[in-house]
Amino acid sequence: MANIIEVEDLFFTYKDGTRALNGISLNIEEGARVAMLGPNGAGKSTLLLHLNGILLPQKGSVRLLGQEINRRNEKWARNIVGLVFQDPDDQVFSSTVWDDVAFGPVNMRLAPDEIERRVEMSLAAVNMEEYRDKLPYRLSCGQKKRVAIAGVLAMNPRVVVLDEPVGSLDPAGQQILMDILGRLNDCGTTVIIATHDVDLAASWARQVLVIKDGRILAGGGPEVLADEKVIGEAGLRLPLIAQVFNLLPEMNLDHVPLTVEEAVLLLKNITRKE
Ligand SMILES: Nc1ncnc2c1ncn2[C@@H]1O[C@H](COP(=O)(O)OP(=O)(O)OP(=O)(O)O)[C@@H](O)[C@H]1O
Ligand SMILES: [Mg+2]
Repeated sequence: MANIIEVEDLFFTYKDGTRALNGISLNIEEGARVAMLGPNGAGKSTLLLHLNGILLPQKGSVRLLGQEINRRNEKWARNIVGLVFQDPDDQVFSSTVWDDVAFGPVNMRLAPDEIERRVEMSLAAVNMEEYRDKLPYRLSCGQKKRVAIAGVLAMNPRVVVLDEPVGSLDPAGQQILMDILGRLNDCGTTVIIATHDVDLAASWARQVLVIKDGRILAGGGPEVLADEKVIGEAGLRLPLIAQVFNLLPEMNLDHVPLTVEEAVLLLKNITRKE
């Protein structure tokens, strides 16, 4: 698969002098399913804001479909890359939930029945249909997040980027969202999330990027999350399943399982042999 996003030697310093990105380079292939992890203040949100031109590089570059994102094409970039902000208060602002989710499709000048179809589908996807007429700012934090997510889904972007999508969602809502994102990805959408949830990253992502101090500390498959050195440096922890198997050295495993599915497969194989 060709790269859809290429970040090269990206630096970014905020106006108050805080250096948030310190030479980030990474490639994301079209159709990838990526989780970014790293401690508070690592630079994850700052990096994600560069992926659709909300922030523009001060040094280095971000290329989307081979084209460098700049002031002239940032609107184009925003139609291809849909970003759900970490704080839904930055994103949810219309007078009703329905209008909020319709905002993107209306701006894309879609036909009214297509707008209607997309808004209905997106509200259903996040289980918020019954709130369609409500004032967004009166919603709970998790509900606002759901509306922000619906707003991005309604634009049907080629790349969906979500900054901490599950933090304020209840467990059932988290599962529903991750299933939706998995299905979108199965249909070819590139999905990138930033999260602190190592268990979720291990079970959902196919590519993991660990960021610290505005740099990429490690990258690869989910097995990166079993690397004790990376975990220690990045303020993460081992996935719970890996912790269980690490307490069973007598099992003599070459690779500890990271997810429930891997653990079940392993245990089934062992019981079959006995
Ligand atoms: N608007 C801003 N003005 C000044 N400094 C900022 C601003 N936004 C973020 N920073 C600083 O930039 C650095 C990176 O912040 P960023 O929000 O990208 O981190 P993060 O990895 O997303 O953290 P978290 O896990 O807490 O969401 C931090 O030191 C932060 O204090
Ligand atoms: Mg953040």
